[in-house]
Amino acid sequence: VLRFAVFGHPVAHSLSPRIHAHFARQFGIALDYAAIDAAAERFDVALAEFAAEGGLGANITLPLKTRAAGICTHLSERARRAGAVNTLIRSATGWEGDNTDGVGLIRDLTERHGLDLRERRTLLIGAGGAARGVAPALLDAGIGDLFIVNRTGERADALADTLGQPGRVHPRYLDDVGNLGNFDLIVNATSAAREHEFPSLPMSLATPRTAAVDLSYGEAAIPFLAWAKVAGAHDRIDGLGMLVEQAAESFERWHRRRPETDPVYALLRQGAG
Ligand code: ATR
Repeated sequence: VLRFAVFGHPVAHSLSPRIHAHFARQFGIALDYAAIDAAAERFDVALAEFAAEGGLGANITLPLKTRAAGICTHLSERARRAGAVNTLIRSATGWEGDNTDGVGLIRDLTERHGLDLRERRTLLIGAGGAARGVAPALLDAGIGDLFIVNRTGERADALADTLGQPGRVHPRYLDDVGNLGNFDLIVNATSAAREHEFPSLPMSLATPRTAAVDLSYGEAAIPFLAWAKVAGAHDRIDGLGMLVEQAAESFERWHRRRPETDPVYALLRQGAG
């Protein structure tokens, strides 16, 4: 039996164990994929224990993605650019860190939802770990200008600096979002709704062409997508598809096989996964 796990805090409601069990079944792989709750202070110890018990790979979720990047002995290019790791791969010398969130988002938007992202004027709301994970992939996917707005303006500045495309990436305060015009793509990467608060956004941000995307799914995606509906956005997409696609990408890194995502996505969407 091959040992894998997802680490997070909290992690009990993670769908990753179910997703990976479905993928493994497609290939007859015997998998033991656990959900391990570890607060940031305990993460290093918990991961060392997991390695000692033969753990071969792990997914990393909130709030450990940045910390995980610091533990790795090697980072993939996309993990280095994001400064965040969602996938660990055991190597002879330690842990290799990768980040499959960005490619998972792009695959969901372009292949599942059929969006053409090229030249879209884009608003990214938030500048934490989730925003860092997807910003480089959005730029690589050929979007137009990227405005990053954050409650704490300095974090938007820091993310824009990391991305290194000053002519194309524009950090701003969330409070000033009403002065930025409208957008073809709006991505909510804040954790506000998880904390049962949500910033009020002007309706003028959206047009009948706009795609609105929340990186969360379930209840946490409701406030932003409800706003997007009232604002008249054409597409309203939650993070469930991205979750399945990032999992497939991680699965491929570990097992060198590409699982079918559509049946698993359909099961989870029905709530039957
Ligand atoms: P994650 O890994 O989910 O991105 P994070 O790194 O803690 O978690 O980042 C949370 C993001 O949600 C940040 O952009 C945060 O804004 P600040 O940097 O100003 O803290 C944003 N956020 C959280 N609660 C918010 C709220 N009530 N209003 C606006 N933004 C909020």
